[in-house]
Amino acid sequence: MRPIVIAANWKMNTTPADAGDLARTIASRTREPGVTRVICPPYVSLAAVRDALAGEDVGVGAQNVHHELAGAYTGEVSVPMLAGLATWVILGHSERRAYFGETDALIGKKLDRALAGGLRPILCVGEVLAEREAGRETQVVDGQLRGALEGRDPETLAGAGLVVAYEPVWAIGTGKNARGADAEAMAQAIRASLRALGWGSRADETPVLYGGSVTSGNIEEFLAEPGVDGALIGGASLKPDEMAGICARAGITAKARGLAS
Ligand code: 13P
Repeated sequence: MRPIVIAANWKMNTTPADAGDLARTIASRTREPGVTRVICPPYVSLAAVRDALAGEDVGVGAQNVHHELAGAYTGEVSVPMLAGLATWVILGHSERRAYFGETDALIGKKLDRALAGGLRPILCVGEVLAEREAGRETQVVDGQLRGALEGRDPETLAGAGLVVAYEPVWAIGTGKNARGADAEAMAQAIRASLRALGWGSRADETPVLYGGSVTSGNIEEFLAEPGVDGALIGGASLKPDEMAGICARAGITAKARGLAS
């Protein structure tokens, strides 16, 4: 049975001075049986968020990680540095791809490091507007999955709990969310790509999240789709009211899918 995952990507927002309070407030307002919660603050706020969430069942994640363990990489953070701070990591976010030149091959290397270090990866994929307008979204996402996952052992990846987040770039931070049916079609396409990579039944066990202008007002549309298992949330994840509404709806889905005890 796939979990329902609600993951907050705070991006380059909050400071160590305010991140702990925000995390604590969100945690206290989002306790829903059967909903897996994750908060991904900036690196410098990881310790504050970890401390604030002590005793809460909320995962803490990094938004990126370097593919080497140590060395002359000014400004970078490696997997061993995250020990004790994070148990999840977002990889291949479209903003990393667009602004920092991350390629599928590099993301694959980061994936290897994350797995070796015991971090649970949320691998982001998604097409840009021109690709969707050209009807190439499935092809693009298949290429991204192939580029990062091909040649890697499905058992290891699935065993580590790999989560795939479908985030169409045109929907991120634009207020123009995809439709639930688009997310469902892409979730099916993602699992078809995994099967083509030799994942077999592991493809059906892999959670697929939707991301892109998710709010408490539209989350229902996504969670109503049987192939969609939660959301990766940017802007709305900084607002406790929004997170409370999103997780409340996720709780309904968790119950309907038999996940809530
Ligand atoms: P928004 O929810 O702000 O559109 O961001 C989505 C996202 O990129 C999450 O990783």
